[in-house]
This record gives sequence, structure tokens and C-alpha cells, in this order.
Amino acid sequence: MKTSAILGTGSALPAKVVSNDDLAKIVDTNDEWIRERTGIVNRRISVDETVTTMSIEAATKALEDAKLSAKDLDLIIVATITPDGAMPNAACKVQAAIGATNAMCYDINAACSGFMYGLQTAHAFISAGLLKHVLVVGAETLSKILDWNDRSTCVLFGDGAGAAVLGPSENGILAIEGGADGVKGVALMLGNRPLVNPYTKHEAVQPYVEMDGQAVFKFAVRTIPHILNSLSEKTNIPLEDLDLILLHQANKRIIEAAARRLKLSEDMFPMNLDKYGNTSAASIAILLDEVNKSGKLKNGDKIALAGFGGGLTWAGLMLEWKKD
Ligand code: COA
Repeated sequence: MKTSAILGTGSALPAKVVSNDDLAKIVDTNDEWIRERTGIVNRRISVDETVTTMSIEAATKALEDAKLSAKDLDLIIVATITPDGAMPNAACKVQAAIGATNAMCYDINAACSGFMYGLQTAHAFISAGLLKHVLVVGAETLSKILDWNDRSTCVLFGDGAGAAVLGPSENGILAIEGGADGVKGVALMLGNRPLVNPYTKHEAVQPYVEMDGQAVFKFAVRTIPHILNSLSEKTNIPLEDLDLILLHQANKRIIEAAARRLKLSEDMFPMNLDKYGNTSAASIAILLDEVNKSGKLKNGDKIALAGFGGGLTWAGLMLEWKKD
């Protein structure tokens, strides 16, 4: 077996839908501003759901899709910056719930790039022949670390989880690309102050998202072409030959600007940020599951995935779809 492939996907979302109009009732904003500047219309906000419960649901669905049992897993990675607690890690909580008794378990913190870093780690273990089946989950409850008085950040994010099971294959991941720039990390970070979550009524001194929106916007628009061009060079596959490109769902204008820079049709870039907002480490995982379950992907299709976010971090990969 030469490489690793994605054998199954799953996702889970909180039940509560919060629209732009709902947000306009708690902060000085409006539907038109949010739609025009971001493309976001609704997002899901967790009230009873947690990173653990959503990870378990997404993982169970991914295993079903892969036609594997939890006992087949050698490693579980959960990418999250909002675990329910630091110890035990989120991956151990998933392991306990699904009965993956043969798996090692750890979490990855790489913000919105976390799911991509997780896929790359899984690929490294599998293609080296060290492990056979790896579950990667991206899960976040960003709503719990937002300042709901800050209209420039609280309108952007949502909660959710997505998962993928990877295993050995003749066809699958073709190349990876990634990096980080810690010097610019202050553009997107967590501060600390007393905050009230209007959806759970929870009040505490807690970390909250602080962001230089325009700096992050520029970083994203430069970084996406860098990742994709690098993947194209490594594989000798022109980007226009790809069937789909799945990008981190932060902002419609970021995706449109990247498509323009790359001279690619916007039709190559599926989006669901209108429904879910930016779900950080979960966003590419949820989108991948939607695309997979919609039947849009057939064996032999070539796709690229790319994410970027806090750290600053970025990561992507190109793969030939080979599922069954
Ligand atoms: N509703 C209404 N007005 C808002 C608003 C909101 N939710 N948020 C900000 N504004 C106001 C600002 O206060 C500012 O008003 P002013 O001109 O009176 O000062 C005005 O809108 C323009 O703000 P600006 O920050 O220049 O807007 P922008 O076009 O840069 O859009 C973002 C802001 C956050 C949408 C944009 O910078 C962005 O998407 N950045 C990337 C963020 C991101 O994706 N982060 C996660 C990456 S993983």
C-alpha cells in the first residue's frame, strides 16, 4: 500500500440555529452587513451539545461510512481549541464512548488548520506503515470563547464537528503542504476577560477571540494560493484539472478572492459557510462530509483541501478520491 485514503466521513451539528437577525437583537449589527462582508446567514450554537458529544456523533458516522468498527482504530486525533476539558483529552473521551480500545488518543491545537494537520499526521503514520486506521475529528464550540459584545468577531463563528477515517490504499493522498508563522500570531488570539454567553447564560472570566480582521483576511487570501500552487507543483497536477477544492469556510469573500487570484472558477469551491459560519477546526471536515454524502465525488476524482487560521497556521493536501 503506497499511501492513505479517506475511507469514510461524518459530521454533527448543534440543534440551535442562530440567524443574523437573531444576532442583531443582542449586538449592534444587521443581516445585510454580515451577508455582504462574509456570506454568513445562519450558524449553529451549542446549548446542550459539547465538543465531546459532537465528536462522538461525527466519529460514529465516519466509522459507519468507512464500514469499520471502532476496534479497527489504531489512533484517534481530535483537532480542537475548545475541548470540554484539558484532561482527559477529547480523543480519549471519544475512545471511551465508541469502544476504540486499540487506539492511541491525542488532541491537536492548530486552530482552524487543526483538521488538516490531523489528516497529515494520519497520512504520515499510515503511509509509513506504522498504523493502519486513524480517525481524525475536527470539533469546536467557538461560541464558548466569543465576546458576544464584540460585533466584529461574534457574527463570524459557529459550532460543529466533522470526522474522517483514513486507512492504507494504493490511491489517495498525493501531496501535503503546511506551515506556520508564530511571529504574526497576535493577529488572531485568545485574550481573557469576564464574559456572559447569552445562549447558555454562563458567566466567567474566560478566554475570548481577539482578531485583527483585515490582517487575517490578507493572510488568508495570500496563503490559499500559496498552499494550492505548492500542491500543484509537488504533484504536477494543474489546479484547473482538479474536480473540487475544499477551503476552510471563514468568509465567502476570502474564497472568491483566492479563486480570482488563481484564475479558477468559483464553481470549483463548494461552500456551506452560509449555513454554519466559521466552525474553525470542524469546517473542512463538515464540508468534506457534505460533499461525500451528496454523491458529488467518484473514485478517481482529484481534490484539494486547504485551511488557515490562528497561530498563524496553514495546511493543505491533494488527493485522489478512492473510498470503496
Ligand atoms: N455589523 C455591522 N458593522 C460591523 C460589524 C458587524 N458585525 N463588524 C464590524 N462592523 C463595522 C466596523 O465597526 C467598521 O465601522 P466603522 O467604519 O464605522 O469603523 C466597519 O464595519 C468596517 O469594518 P472593517 O473591519 O473594516 O470591515 P471588513 O470589511 O474588514 O470586514 C471582517 C470585517 C471581520 C468580516 C473581515 O475583515 C474578515 O472577514 N476578516 C477575516 C476574519 C476571519 O475569517 N477570521 C478567521 C480566520 S480562521
